[in-house]
Amino acid sequence: MRADKLLANAGFGTRKEVKKLLKQGVVMADGKKVTQGSEQIYPETQHIEVKGEPFFYREYIYLMMNKPAGLISATEDDFHETVLDVLEWDDVVRRPFPVGRLDKDTEGMLLITNDGKFSHALTSPKKGVPKTYEALLDQPAAREDVEAFSRGIVLEDGYETKPAELLVPESSPDRVNVTIREGKFHQVKRMFESVGKKVTYLKRIQIGSLPLDETLAPGEYRDMEDREIHLLLEEAYQRTKNGTVSSD
Ligand code: URA
Repeated sequence: MRADKLLANAGFGTRKEVKKLLKQGVVMADGKKVTQGSEQIYPETQHIEVKGEPFFYREYIYLMMNKPAGLISATEDDFHETVLDVLEWDDVVRRPFPVGRLDKDTEGMLLITNDGKFSHALTSPKKGVPKTYEALLDQPAAREDVEAFSRGIVLEDGYETKPAELLVPESSPDRVNVTIREGKFHQVKRMFESVGKKVTYLKRIQIGSLPLDETLAPGEYRDMEDREIHLLLEEAYQRTKNGTVSSD
């Protein structure tokens, strides 16, 4: 591939910025300086370095992060640190973005990618991919809450949520698991507010049938395995195919 195209695709800037980078002589392919945008370089077979750092070209990246509280799920924010601020440089240059949002104080599983189709498959209301959260409540959840969640909850603005699954362990009824299939603003917190309870801690523990990798400490992330990416895509596809989803 042309050097300028490869570097621009990988997020090193516009064609003009990439040209400047090449002129600086900081791009190397197998130990040789690449200074012309038109030069062909082969990331699959050559050792490429940019500014002394090895460069591995993949068109798409798929990351799983255990998001800590305190980070914003956005690509930029004027006042707060975002989830992108804690990524390694060679991931950031691929211009990734979070798949959906978690509130600033919510922890847990956040996927980050630069693949718009992957993101859409997991966030589109049409696919209705389930997301499961662990929630700590200010008081025990009741049997009626389980029933109310399974019917759908009318939020304070009149919106009626889709049916959700609430699991209340007998041993700790204030530490519950809830699975929702849509992603309205503050949805889980607002659903509990509607039944008179406050969420004091929230963590996403699963997307589709893929659980959070609990070996990731808060703030840590890793590349998703191919098997995990395909599992989620397949589940999203099956949900559309089987018509198990809403029409919005
Ligand atoms: N529901 C919420 O209330 N907050 C989140 O971060 C995610 C789901």
